[in-house]
Amino acid sequence: MTEAWRPDDEDEQRRGAGGPVKVRVPAKVNLHLGVGPLRGDGYHELNTVYHAISIYDELTARRGDTLILTMEGEGTGELALDDSNLVIRAAHALAGYAGVLPHARLHLRKQIPLAGGLAGGSADAAAALVACDALWGTGLSREQLADIAADLGSDVPFLIYGGTALGTGRGEAVSPVLARPTSWHWVVAIADVGLSTPAAYRELDRLRDAGTAGEPLGSTDGLLAALRQRDPRVLAAALGNDLQDAALTMRPSLAATLKAGEAAGAFAGIVSGSGPTCVFLATDEADARRIAAELEAAEVCREAWVAHGPVAGARVV
Ligand code: C5P
Repeated sequence: MTEAWRPDDEDEQRRGAGGPVKVRVPAKVNLHLGVGPLRGDGYHELNTVYHAISIYDELTARRGDTLILTMEGEGTGELALDDSNLVIRAAHALAGYAGVLPHARLHLRKQIPLAGGLAGGSADAAAALVACDALWGTGLSREQLADIAADLGSDVPFLIYGGTALGTGRGEAVSPVLARPTSWHWVVAIADVGLSTPAAYRELDRLRDAGTAGEPLGSTDGLLAALRQRDPRVLAAALGNDLQDAALTMRPSLAATLKAGEAAGAFAGIVSGSGPTCVFLATDEADARRIAAELEAAEVCREAWVAHGPVAGARVV
């Protein structure tokens, strides 16, 4: 992992006690998303490789007499500001765990699209845990924060760590992938309208019951071996997502987006998580910019952004 968490980051966060504290948190893509059977608890068993990319939300925490959240940016008009909001739930969860009052004034600046398959909501929960931990001086370890994170959502623990990591269980059990530093360049095609994650999993179950889903991807071994080779062509060939067929059935226009990226010269394109965002692997930043411009010109997405990964998880900046 190139920009993984190091123990001295913790000290840096403790120095934030008193506030205001600003935390930056990345989006994630899944380089491999292997979806196993539906479990009794309503989740699917996953074998995934998470990868944090340089599209960020920013959360600022200040001292206050109560807990309040304000927001600006990408899609925030659609988000509830009450106790159902993952940021508020994260602050309450940390306060309960640490035995402190959940008092803070939180302001979220969103860039990560809502319901995009980039874990935007989970990222904000991870940012809230890291920001409130610094504001309240509760001084929890990354592992403790990741434990609290697991109850908030399957992707939240990964966004505490960032980098590139294996996810198992329902995705909440995270272990870093140790690889020599390599930066990968991505084009991220943002759709006009989001897709619901539970609906994408339900659609995959339906396709599997009907016998029309593709073969499950299974183990992450091939992807991990490809990562070690540090060659974008090799990594491109190993990318895979069991939820892609479901996302394509729900949003058939994504087929044209994927095709346009590959026609523009990307090594490969896949749906990110439960979609509808599509990500494409490029040779370098200039290549990524060129592909992004072609995707926008082809009008197969709302916007196409350039990003690199891996990057660190939720951090005080
Ligand atoms: O964990 P999180 O709240 O982000 O999950 C949202 C929804 O996605 C779940 O309620 C479930 O429908 C689906 N999901 C799943 N299996 C997983 C993770 C999520 O079915 N491993």
